[in-house]
Amino acid sequence: MKIEEFKLERTLARFQNEVDYDLSASGIYPMYIREILTPEEMDDAYNNLHLKYVHTAGTSHLREAVASFYEGMDPSSVFMTNGSAEALFLMAWGLIEPGDEVAFMIPNFMLLSHVVESNGAIVRPFHLDPERGWALDVQSLKNAVNPKTKLVCVCNPNNPTGTVLSKEQMQQIVDVAASVGAYILSDEVYRGAEQGNVETPSFWGMYEKVIIISGLSKSFGLPGLRVGWVAGPRDIAEMSWFYHDFLSTTVTTFSDFLATKALEPEMRKKIFARNRGIVRQNLATFTDWVNSQGDILSFTPPQAGCFAFVKFDLPVTSWDLVMDMVRNNSVFVIPGSCFGIESHLRMNFGVDKPRLEEGLIRVGRTLSRFR
Ligand SMILES: Cc1ncc(COP(=O)(O)O)c(C=O)c1O
Repeated sequence: MKIEEFKLERTLARFQNEVDYDLSASGIYPMYIREILTPEEMDDAYNNLHLKYVHTAGTSHLREAVASFYEGMDPSSVFMTNGSAEALFLMAWGLIEPGDEVAFMIPNFMLLSHVVESNGAIVRPFHLDPERGWALDVQSLKNAVNPKTKLVCVCNPNNPTGTVLSKEQMQQIVDVAASVGAYILSDEVYRGAEQGNVETPSFWGMYEKVIIISGLSKSFGLPGLRVGWVAGPRDIAEMSWFYHDFLSTTVTTFSDFLATKALEPEMRKKIFARNRGIVRQNLATFTDWVNSQGDILSFTPPQAGCFAFVKFDLPVTSWDLVMDMVRNNSVFVIPGSCFGIESHLRMNFGVDKPRLEEGLIRVGRTLSRFR
């Protein structure tokens, strides 16, 4: 299978560590082990944690902990992976055959789309509408779905816009998928990192053919644990296990231990309180800065996550604009083209305030050069 470079990941790797001011990240400022374990628990792990293989289907305690994050989920529906990226790859590999059709929300994290396309599937995009605050364009969804559609892929809360589907829009997606018997794959890795107090509803329980992809990298602020999961009907959990035997086999013993702690209801509450504090803190500063750039920039305020998808009105591609920023002002954000949308930048505002302020000044300098 030949596949094109995963532009988002490779672009991040190339420039993130090269600049003085990095506003490119998608996650929330990561947590330290000390924020999850007490010294006594750390001591206990030091003395007793045995670095053996854990059960290849995922340990029962971790699957139970994941299931408790959803209404009415049985642990047998859960399969543990190394990051949600691996969960997406498993679905692309195990579920989609050459010639199958996949309806894919744009903008989005493009991993699954690239993998299935390179394997001979047909990807039909449907859209969130920038003119209506990134609301679902239902007609484009209907146009993208037909009896050959096996999977309807959504990302909610959305990367890169940070917007959240309304309950009505979720129901519309269910209705369209159900009309052809397609699975819905909902990437919910940003659920829990909301600006407001209402947790994003999950698609879980809305339809019998729902597959949830999620993990601890984003709203939990634990990307270094590399813990993700697939949750779905029993046959999807079984299929995931089957294909995963050819991949990384298990999550690591230490990740299994720490992830189980992080998902305990009380700890989950504490983590989300910390992370929501971070995502709320800087949005006002960021919004003021966008408004200060005149009518060059506009954006829909994100409802979740610590990034915004900002539209620019300048005669330059998003890639060239970002390369100019990197070269001349040592600041880095993600070009919209990495998400399939031009004339946009994904900008992270979840860094410490002095860093954010200086980073924004530098982005502003680049914008001025193209005015
Ligand atoms: C929407 C979305 N899904 C999945 C991933 C993969 O994350 P991880 O493998 O760290 O869980 C990302 C990473 O940026 C993402 O933005």
